Amino acid sequence: MATVRTSIHGYWSSRFVFVLAAAGSAVGLGNIWKFPYMAGENGGGAFVLIYLISIAVFGIPVMMSEVLLGRRGRSSPIHTMSILADDEGRSKAWQLLGLMGVLAGFLILSYYSVIAGWALSYVVDTASGTFSGVTAEQAGEVFNNLVSNPQRLLFWHTLFIVLTMIVVLRGVSKGLESAVRILMPALFLLIIIMIAYAILNGDFFAGLKFLFEPDFSKLSPDMVLKAMGQAFFSLSLGMGAIMMYGSYLPEDASIATTSFQVALADTLVAILAGLAIFPIVFANGLEAGQGPGLIFNTLPIAFGQMTGGLLFGTIFFVLLVFAAWTSAISLIEPAVAWLIEKFSISRLSSSIICGFVTWFVGLGTVYSFNTWTKIEVFNGTFLEGKSFFDLLDYLTSNIMLPLGGILICIFAAWLMTEKSRHDELKIKHDGAYKLWRFLARYVTPIGVIFIFLHVLGVLEKINLT
Ligand code: PFF
Repeated sequence: MATVRTSIHGYWSSRFVFVLAAAGSAVGLGNIWKFPYMAGENGGGAFVLIYLISIAVFGIPVMMSEVLLGRRGRSSPIHTMSILADDEGRSKAWQLLGLMGVLAGFLILSYYSVIAGWALSYVVDTASGTFSGVTAEQAGEVFNNLVSNPQRLLFWHTLFIVLTMIVVLRGVSKGLESAVRILMPALFLLIIIMIAYAILNGDFFAGLKFLFEPDFSKLSPDMVLKAMGQAFFSLSLGMGAIMMYGSYLPEDASIATTSFQVALADTLVAILAGLAIFPIVFANGLEAGQGPGLIFNTLPIAFGQMTGGLLFGTIFFVLLVFAAWTSAISLIEPAVAWLIEKFSISRLSSSIICGFVTWFVGLGTVYSFNTWTKIEVFNGTFLEGKSFFDLLDYLTSNIMLPLGGILICIFAAWLMTEKSRHDELKIKHDGAYKLWRFLARYVTPIGVIFIFLHVLGVLEKINLT
């Protein structure tokens, strides 16, 4: 049976480029926008702790499993799962895993693009001096004026989708390499500058305490689910993005080392972003749990006050847009590649179709912040008060991605033959291989299902906890 396949979509030119591209997918709004506001809403330290544990015990094993499947199948996730199911004598229904991933990618990108639109709009605001010497209240007004205006949101959302599709239609390996190589280190540098500002002018100690002193009274099943969901979201796991990128990975690259490097870089950026933001939040008496507007209400105050803030602020938001861009590309690439394989259409047509559908679904999020802030049909249910955006975010991050992650682990660590997974992972150290297999076989599936059941209240009902 042929195990070394070729990819019709191209290859990364080296292992390092895969790390850059996967880190480009992982590092995005999830780290800089979502992580701080989720930590803020869920009480800080305890959330951060569960998030870090989730990265280690679920994130790294799932990432290795996902890259493993991708490189072995060398196609879009749906096709890869169908090929591997054949190879291993398993049911064709495993394709549904790829299909769920494609759906999750569409849904995530539809709202991701609206938030990336906020960042685009902030590039213009910052560059034009809107935030010079701004107070916390004025910064809040600028944000409210933006999100309460559907036309403005729509404009930026549309622009972001177009920018994303331009790269996708050129073919990922061409467009992405050069962008990520320069932009990731630049983003890193800017966050460090922000932290320096936070140390000098913010309440750094309060920020540190908030992020790293766990208050275990804040622990709840729903909070644990959110921290775990954030780990999957931030590492781009469970929906095939990393599987897709893994399919372009050269044969001789180590899956374990690359996965580890990507997870480390991603986690570092999230923690550093938290360290840059919370000292400013506390120094200005802002609300840590204010939700999705957090960084947009906070960072402009710093940029408005620091020397060179106009320049730094503008560069920061430009880099945030780029970080979102490289993630967005990975969200839609599995769908684009699948349409090409399935219907033999061109990359151009496939990109246009995918871009349009995502744009259209994104309208629901555009209106979630102004005219349609609650979905009325949910009144009286546990979803009462949720907007379309809240719903998509909850469904994708907390349910679809972890579920995808479990299935990926089950396929890689249970259903493939020992030889297939061993050949593909090529881990020389036997102990390390066994550790991966143990985590992927038992810890991830059981852990995630345990958290699901806890949230549903099933364990309480049968007196297990
Ligand atoms: N990891 C990205 C972020 O943190 O912004 C978001 C993301 C990209 C999630 C790709 C899932 C994905 F497949």
